[in-house]
Amino acid sequence: MIKPYAAATAVALLLASAAATPAAADDDDATVAHRKDVMVVAGAGMGTLGCFMKGDCALDGKVLAAAAKSIAFAGELSQEAFEDPAEDAMVETTSVPAIWENWETFSGGLQAMTEAADALVSAALEADRAAMGPLMQKLGGTCKECHDNFRD
Ligand code: HEC
Repeated sequence: MIKPYAAATAVALLLASAAATPAAADDDDATVAHRKDVMVVAGAGMGTLGCFMKGDCALDGKVLAAAAKSIAFAGELSQEAFEDPAEDAMVETTSVPAIWENWETFSGGLQAMTEAADALVSAALEADRAAMGPLMQKLGGTCKECHDNFRD
């Protein structure tokens, strides 16, 4: 059996060697995969909310509020997920270099997305379509504005 101390040392050594390795293309691929996954979370949340708004899904307010919160959270996570340009990535990406040339604007767009999603939570909790409508529009506008400016 491995003693806890030995295990901790092994982990520490592993982390130290990982930190010493220069960023390789594999890491960049993982970075791109991660930032896309975070955006997929936002897309899934919008899908759930959109289904309710169209009247195609009868969903509980708690589910709708959770969807709105997940979008807010995806916006927060994106701040870090997009920080590294991962220029050597081999996997497909639709991010454009303008993101890192205009980081303040891009980051502000993510902040706007998080705030618009947070603003939707209480109307979503009431499953109040009329109140949700304009808030959904505003939230959707933050996605579109950034995608128009910062995606191929
Ligand atoms: C501030 C910028 C910004 C905002 C705001 C933003 N996105 Fe994105 N989104 C991006 C970028 C950049 C990509 C491209 C990621 C890549 O391919 O590297 C992307 C990609 C995506 C993708 C495709 C992921 C994939 O698998 O390729 C989806 C889905 C998505 N966004 C949904 C949303 C939704 C829904 C919102 C709003 C609730 C949103 N995004 C808001 C910048 C943004």
